[in-house]
Amino acid sequence: MADTTSNPQEILSALNDMATGFMKSQALYLAAKLGIADHLSAGPQSSDALAEAVGANPGALYRLLRFLEYLGLFYEPEPGKFALTAMGEYLRSDAPGGIRNEAIFNMELIWPGWGELAYTVTTGRSADQRAFGASFFEHLQQHPHLAALFNDSMTRFIASMAPAVAAAYDFRPFRTIVDIGGGHGTLMAAILQANPQARGVIFDLPITVEGAQKYMVELGLSERCACLGGDFFKEVPPGDAIILSAVISDWDDEKSVHILANCRRAVAPEGRLLLIERRLIPEEPAPATAFLDLQMLLLGGGAGRTAGEYRRLLTEAGFELARIISTGTQRSIFEARPV
Ligand SMILES: C[S@@+](CC[C@H](N)C(=O)[O-])C[C@H]1O[C@@H](n2cnc3c(N)ncnc32)[C@H](O)[C@@H]1O
Repeated sequence: MADTTSNPQEILSALNDMATGFMKSQALYLAAKLGIADHLSAGPQSSDALAEAVGANPGALYRLLRFLEYLGLFYEPEPGKFALTAMGEYLRSDAPGGIRNEAIFNMELIWPGWGELAYTVTTGRSADQRAFGASFFEHLQQHPHLAALFNDSMTRFIASMAPAVAAAYDFRPFRTIVDIGGGHGTLMAAILQANPQARGVIFDLPITVEGAQKYMVELGLSERCACLGGDFFKEVPPGDAIILSAVISDWDDEKSVHILANCRRAVAPEGRLLLIERRLIPEEPAPATAFLDLQMLLLGGGAGRTAGEYRRLLTEAGFELARIISTGTQRSIFEARPV
């Protein structure tokens, strides 16, 4: 990327933001965790009343609120009383498009890995065992409230893309469509709604697939969709189209080929494997992709990959990359056929 500025003041201000960014993340996290915005939803409150409601030290909470006021989340309509700004409203649990869960998720699930960045950069190994004493997904299974945060976050992300992904690909030739690591079923729901001929299978870890089951019942799709718990490193259910959306990017090459090889055994001879992933284009650096690439490495040894890298993994697992289809979202569809 080219130099963007040579103004020393701008440079130092940007560097200072980087050096102190954790303070803002921690303050936002704590406000989210304590539910401060929910307590202020009915109107302004004194910091003492808030401290009592959330079980905090009044003086210390006041100082946190002043910092968050400076960050733009609250204002003081009168001294010592705090109210939500338009920005602060997004920290309410019931705010449409709100980020309360995100603020908690980032600190409780993502920060521990970033705290081990030096270990990962020194060794090239993922940080999850050091950060959690378990792999990232084992850790989620052991802590259902974290699994709920993670799955909510995944659902929000895929919800913004699912209709476009479902519309970008012709699923009409397929009777059974299997979404491996399908989370709470948002993508599968969009595909089934657009393709009345199809039946679906959502396959994910047992704790996650419970959420998918509930969601299918809510949408009236449970008759057309089975929700199966299991481990994609052991085996995956058979299907005419097998989808892996944001799954392979979680894993290193060896584990990715292992999952893909299990899909190879499960896909129908004339069927298709659809990888739904961001496509890394080295000559078009995207800040979000660079950051996610590092995050994938930290949390499980995964990676953002180029088309060539996906092609190589697919070939090793017995597939041929047939097409890459743009969806108009951050993710593309890598269509592969068994060979
Ligand atoms: C990054 S999320 C992607 C979720 C969803 N496909 C999407 O596009 O938003 C990865 C998914 O893989 C699932 N997963 C992780 N390890 C698994 C395993 N061993 N067997 C089955 N699913 C697994 C997770 O529970 C999670 O739902």
